[in-house]
Amino acid sequence: MTIYSHSEADTAGAGALLARRLKPGQVCALYGELGAGKTAFVRGAAAALGCGARVSSPTFTIVNEYPGDVSVFHFDMYRLASSDELFDIGWEDYLRRDGISFVEWSENVEDAIPPEAVRVRIEKTGETERRITVTGGDGE
Ligand SMILES: Nc1ncnc2c1ncn2[C@@H]1O[C@H](COP(=O)(O)OP(=O)(O)OP(=O)(O)O)[C@@H](O)[C@H]1O
Ligand SMILES: [Mg+2]
Repeated sequence: MTIYSHSEADTAGAGALLARRLKPGQVCALYGELGAGKTAFVRGAAAALGCGARVSSPTFTIVNEYPGDVSVFHFDMYRLASSDELFDIGWEDYLRRDGISFVEWSENVEDAIPPEAVRVRIEKTGETERRITVTGGDGE
């Protein structure tokens, strides 16, 4: 599935659309450069899942939890050099829990991403234009 976004709100809307198709326990791995719109995408997803709090970047904490109709675990792997450091934060425990994990900078921990994860690539194609490509999961 490919979505063309023309604004931050569009990208959040894409996140909301996808979130309604995800199930607890699933992982959504996000890829894309700085400022691509990964956090905007997760913000829309979390809102659609009934998480009341506004999602912000977890850069200083690696993971933020948002309770909702379905809980959202929002990871930012930007500062991680490898997946080795994931053991310290209980990555495997998160995957076993009944929430949906959204993972920014999945590039940095590729070997820890489950093969069945849904993968979302966000590419900057202009100042406010983004191409969002969703693969994996049961979507296609
Ligand atoms: N179509 C668009 N979709 C998403 N964001 C957009 C779009 N057009 C412009 N923007 C801007 O790009 C920025 C995206 O920021 P965001 O924090 O979501 O990116 P990110 O991929 O999470 O970056 P980082 O790697 O730093 O975490 C925001 O400032 C947003 O306003
Ligand atoms: Mg971000």
